[in-house]
Parts: sequence; C-alpha cells; structure tokens
Amino acid sequence: MKFRKEEYRNRRIQFMKMVGEGNIAILNAAPEVKRNGSDNHYPYRQDSDFYYLTGFNEPQAIAIFIPGREEGEFILFNREHDPETAVWQGPMAGQSGACEHFGADQSFPFTVADEKIPSLIEGCKRLYYSIGRDMSFNRLILKWFNKVQSAQRSGGAAPSELLNIEAILHEMRLIKSPYEIECMRKAGEISAQAHIDAMKACRPGMREYELEAYLQYGFTKGGSRSPAYPHIVGSGANSCILHYSQNDDVVEDGDVVLIDAGAEYENYASDITRTFPANGRFSPEQRAVYQAVLNTQLAVIDAIKPGVLWQKLQEISEEFILNELIKIGILSGDPQALITQRAWHRFYLHRFGHWLGLDVHDVGAYKVKGQWRALEPGMVLTVEPGIYIPAHSKDVEERWWNIGVRIEDDVLVTGSGCEVLSAKAPKTIEAIEGLMAR
Ligand code: GLY
Ligand code: MN
Ligand code: MN
Repeated sequence: MKFRKEEYRNRRIQFMKMVGEGNIAILNAAPEVKRNGSDNHYPYRQDSDFYYLTGFNEPQAIAIFIPGREEGEFILFNREHDPETAVWQGPMAGQSGACEHFGADQSFPFTVADEKIPSLIEGCKRLYYSIGRDMSFNRLILKWFNKVQSAQRSGGAAPSELLNIEAILHEMRLIKSPYEIECMRKAGEISAQAHIDAMKACRPGMREYELEAYLQYGFTKGGSRSPAYPHIVGSGANSCILHYSQNDDVVEDGDVVLIDAGAEYENYASDITRTFPANGRFSPEQRAVYQAVLNTQLAVIDAIKPGVLWQKLQEISEEFILNELIKIGILSGDPQALITQRAWHRFYLHRFGHWLGLDVHDVGAYKVKGQWRALEPGMVLTVEPGIYIPAHSKDVEERWWNIGVRIEDDVLVTGSGCEVLSAKAPKTIEAIEGLMAR
C-alpha cells in the first residue's frame, strides 16, 4: 500500500497540539529481535506508538517532537544509509528519506542521538515519554535529563515535569481514522477468508497444525505479513484451554474445533474466533452450546452504539450467558441465587472483549475518571463471549464435556450503531454446516 504521508502528518499535528508549545515528546523504535544468539534477522515489527506517529518501520530510531521549534518540530534520529548493510538487509531511508519520504523536519544519524538530545531537551518545560515501559530507554531519558539539569548553572533549564506520553497518545489511538478503519476492514476480510478456508479443509484425523497451515497460507495470500497473535487451533478438550497454542493434537470425529486467529494488515490487527464441528455437523449438545454463545454475542453486538458504557456490554454478556445456560439445562436452580453466585463464571471466565487496533489488545483506558467509558464513533472493539465445559465439570453430565465455544468478531462503533468488520466469517449454524457439507 502506498505510504500515507498526509495521514501521519495529520496525526502529528493533532498530537503536537496536545503536547503544547515549549514542551518535548520522545519515543523510541522497537528493538530488533534476535533469538538464541543467532545472527538471523526475524521480521521486524515497529513499536505501535512509534509507528502511529511516524509510519517509520526501521529499528534504531528515536523520534522527537517539539511543537513550535523554529528549526523543525519533528526530528528523527535514524540509521545512516549504509550501502554495505543494505546489501544484506535491503535499503534504509537514511537522513534524506526520513525528511522526504517520512516528513521529518530534521534527521540526524542515530549515532549522534546521545550527544544531541540533551540540547533538544534543554529549555523545554514538560517532557513526555513512555514512563516505565522500556527500562533501558527510561534510563537513557533520565541520563539526558540529568545532563541538562547539571548544566543549569551555565544557564540551561531542565524540564520541570516528566509526563506519561501514553495518557495523550493512547487516547488518540482509541479513535480510528478512516484510513485506519480501511486497514482494519481489510485485516478482517483476510482473516475471515482464511477461517473459511480452514473450516472447509477440516477433516477428522488431521492435526490441528494442518488447519493452522490453512490460516497462515490464507493470511499471506491475502496480503498480511504477520499474524496479529499466535494462532489458537484447539479441538475437543483443547477447545476449553483459553490460550492453547501447541496446536499439535489429532482432530477427532465428534470434536468441536475452536480457531482464534487474526491477520495483521499494515500493522493493524484483526482478532476472530470461530468454532465448528470437526465432521461438519454439530451434535445436539454442541449445537445447544453454540447457539447459546451466538445468542449472547448477537445481543452484545446489537447493543453497541455511541454512548453505551463498556461495562453495560459486560453485563449484557453475563446476563445472556446465564439465561442461556439455564435454558439448555447446564445450570439450574433459583435464578436470583445463580446471579448472586455469579454461576456463569465457571463456564465464561474472561471478559466480553477488548479494544483493537495497532495492537491486538489495543491501548486506551476502559475507565475515565473512575467511570466506565462510553463508546464513541471510531472506536473498535472485539465481542467474544464463550462457554467452556472441560471434562469432569462438576454437576454437568458427561455428554457436555469437552465442548468449548467462543465466537469473536471485530466491531467498529459508527455514528448510529456499529459495523462488524469480520462479518465475512460465517457464524450461524446453518452457514457453517452449509460451508462444510460434503
Ligand atoms: N486472541 C486473543 C484474544 O482473543 O483476545
Ligand atoms: Mn480477542
Ligand atoms: Mn481472539
């Protein structure tokens, strides 16, 4: 996709308004990943905050924002273009690329950052950075701060306030721009198609990782360069393990298969879960549990619109799951007592969803000034209720055991309601059985 220079420029303008003139914000790029002492290079994934403001995808970089600074407000320290490294790793932007392509006002070699940054900090009142996130970078910031502080006798002035950049940046990231929504819609479409491919390919006797291969192929074929998180392919008993990732069991006839997998597109995540019968036909018990989860998921999605409080959606999901569990006979007794005991919790033990964006569990506060946040247009969240009934669940007949069902979609809050970005992945019983019919 063509680099959206304007998009990043607009984000920086909005961000710098919040930083304010006379202040400074400093961000660093993610490190390169090396494993087991190897000198192999793994695919690079930029730090999401850094990427959000710069679109710059190289390691060894520091971005500095000083609103109102005459010589330039956006300063990038990045690697010099080195023809010898480029032979091994491909081209790098260098200083001219940083300015021309990425819109930096000034760019300096990364190697002079340590020497130059104190003079940029000097005279600024507030210093914004990601407090506590990366300890070695935090130490560097404090080293630069001390350097300015100790030069005060010769006239320099150190910032009087150190502030967490996340408080302003993560609020911005919570509301997605039309371009971000476009990327997330595409991520949802790629993932939905890969889920369809895996469902169609499923046969009892396969290993779970064979289904994973369909997901990975579908993602890459669709234009995604990385999954947004490790694929979960859990059949039978494994469908009840929330963060299962071995994916190496045999899929048995009569199992349900739970796949939680999402592609990343232009660094934006999707996060989709579908559950289906390994042999293409839900058993009566699987059908009952599946419909219970689907009814719950549809009820939560139906409630999503601007103004609705985050916790209200949690309450709807719990109320529905409880009633559905009573309806299908897994729970019984006085409904009021079941509510007091939070009786659903042993079968539905996670929350209904989370924010989604550049990160799969995306940034943004769920409470503002102690109150649950109200939804606003442009927010994207997942809706992912589930019911998990592991073997030997107390007071549950054996016919229900080893059924784990989660249904997860990615939902954009619009002006009047919502749009399901992952809608192309089928989820009614008829649609799934139709797709798998053979
Ligand atoms: N796949 C991670 C999640 O659903 O939150
Ligand atoms: Mn999720
Ligand atoms: Mn998920």
